[in-house]
Amino acid sequence: MEFENIIVSVENNIEYIVLNRPKVLNALNIDTVSELREAVEYAAASDEVRVVIISGAGGRAFAAGADIAEMRELTPEGGREMIANGKALMREIELLDKPVIAALNGYVIGGGLELALACDIRIASASASFSFPEPSLGIIPGYGGSQRLGRVIGYGMAKYYCLTEERMDAARAYELGLVAKVLDTEEELMSEADMIAEKMLKRSPAALAAVKESIREGMSMDMDSALMAETRIFDRVFSSEERVVRMGRFLESRKKSLSLQRTARA
Ligand code: COA
Repeated sequence: MEFENIIVSVENNIEYIVLNRPKVLNALNIDTVSELREAVEYAAASDEVRVVIISGAGGRAFAAGADIAEMRELTPEGGREMIANGKALMREIELLDKPVIAALNGYVIGGGLELALACDIRIASASASFSFPEPSLGIIPGYGGSQRLGRVIGYGMAKYYCLTEERMDAARAYELGLVAKVLDTEEELMSEADMIAEKMLKRSPAALAAVKESIREGMSMDMDSALMAETRIFDRVFSSEERVVRMGRFLESRKKSLSLQRTARA
């Protein structure tokens, strides 16, 4: 796939999406957001892609936010279009029936943080730092960041970081549950992303999609409705042939390892 602002490749059932505007710290201009939407839509339609990994090129940033130079020139109507496009991208990632991993290095700012928040799994290198500096620019996070941050780190902390613009380092992001793991180097970050993806490739794709759906749906419901949604989704995967095959495979492998142990003891 040929793009101007991102690099996309598919290998071993993993779609790699690399934000590639290093001269401007991978700032997300309108074209980049549109290209990202195409890459995510490709993942949705492709039988080959089963996991997506998003990262940033250049070693200094995942993404330093929306492109301020471009945004400065937009009319309010242009701003509405930009926000609709960005919001649609984030929602497409959230609704994608495949897991999306954000591998975060360097600056993860504004729209970059919003993109990370839309992903299912966030891991970071020790160099990563996170912030929402929008109020300094006279705006608020508009790609869903002001809604998703609180759902990840809690209401009070989301207000603190959005209102103060304080930068969070990787250790603090880990403490708050914004990232699941912190790796020492960018190299280790990328190989950890691969390892997580490869583990997920061994799971049932339908079950992974169902986990994603159940957690996402439940987040915006009261407990009784959420439990009903979980039951509906459980019933769907439990009724599948794949469930019978996978459970059978597990029991078979147990039998084999027990008989190997018995032979070794005899
Ligand atoms: N939009 C457009 N260009 C951006 C950008 C953004 N969000 N973030 C960085 N850049 C550009 C800079 O203008 C600079 O370009 P130049 O070399 O043509 O001047 C280049 O990226 C490198 O950034 P620079 O500021 O020189 O690097 P730094 O190490 O001194 O500072 C940051 C890094 C991230 C602290 C600083 O670039 C910054 O504050 N960026 C804006 C972040 C922001 O407010 N994002 C939210 C947008 S809603």
